[in-house]
Order: sequence, then C-alpha cells, then structure tokens
Amino acid sequence: MILPIVAYGANILRQPCEIITPATPGITALIRDMWATLEHANGAGLAAPQVNRPVRLFVVPADDFKITFINPEILWYSEEVIHDTEGCLSIPGIWEDVPRAATVTLQYQDEHFTTHTASFSGDIARAIQHEYDHINGKLYLDYLSPLKKSLLKNKLKAIAKGKVKTPYPMKTS
Ligand code: NI
Repeated sequence: MILPIVAYGANILRQPCEIITPATPGITALIRDMWATLEHANGAGLAAPQVNRPVRLFVVPADDFKITFINPEILWYSEEVIHDTEGCLSIPGIWEDVPRAATVTLQYQDEHFTTHTASFSGDIARAIQHEYDHINGKLYLDYLSPLKKSLLKNKLKAIAKGKVKTPYPMKTS
C-alpha cells in the first residue's frame, strides 16, 4: 500500500522516534508499505515518521538490493566530509547543499531483527545520515545558514499548508 508522505511542518517530523521490538505491532506491514511508498515516490530513502509512524526505522535502496534499517546507531563518522545537493520527500521542490560524512559505520537490525555492523560510503552514506536524522526529529534544513533558511521561508510555508504539487500523495498536519 502506498502511504501519504507527511509534509514539512508536522510535529511528527520533529520528534525523536521510539525503539522497535519484535512485539511492536505492524512492523512487517509498515516495512512493506514503506518500500512501496519509496519506490512510487522515486526517493533515495524514507524514514517511518515520514509515513506518520514515530519509530526507529528507515529504508534505503542500494545498487541492486534494499536495506531496511531498524534501531540503527551510527557508531563512527569519517572526518572526510562531502558537500552535495540534498532533497527530502517531505520538503518537495527544495534542494540544498548539505555537508555529510563521506563514510559512516553503523549497527542496525534488519527486517528479521538480525543485528549487523557495516560501513557505507558515498550516496548511500548520505542517504543513511539523512534518514537517521529523521528518526531523531532532525531535518536537513537544520544544517542551512539562517540566511538560506529565511530565503526558503515562503516555500516552506506553502509546503506546510499543502500548497505544492507532488507526483505522490502527501499529508499535512
Ligand atoms: Ni527526508
């Protein structure tokens, strides 16, 4: 099922999310729906609060496989930082330069609750850091200068009011 994506301005995008256990209801269906939603929206990643579930879960497509991250913890960030343009399905129509660590090492559980520790570099590392911020109530806009942010003010207001067209369903609060 394709779920509506929560638009910028909703409180749920600003909350630290809760740990998931195998007893957390509906996780299997949520993971399936998040992959369907991400593929439909053609995004680089999707975090559970973006589909209105405040739990520590995000999905990121790699080259030819899908990685589901449950209860991730980033253990290490490389000193090397890469600047690149970033966007967010919850903030449509805006792309800005964001610095991110070139490589991260994280521990996470997969959809079977098996624990993994792995390192990722490049575009996937960027997507992981972006989605990891989401489950901690953070948005990439938080890295922008006050000037940049003030220039985006009207666009962000329009998104929060649902006055923006997207090729995927959105939900405003
Ligand atoms: Ni995002």
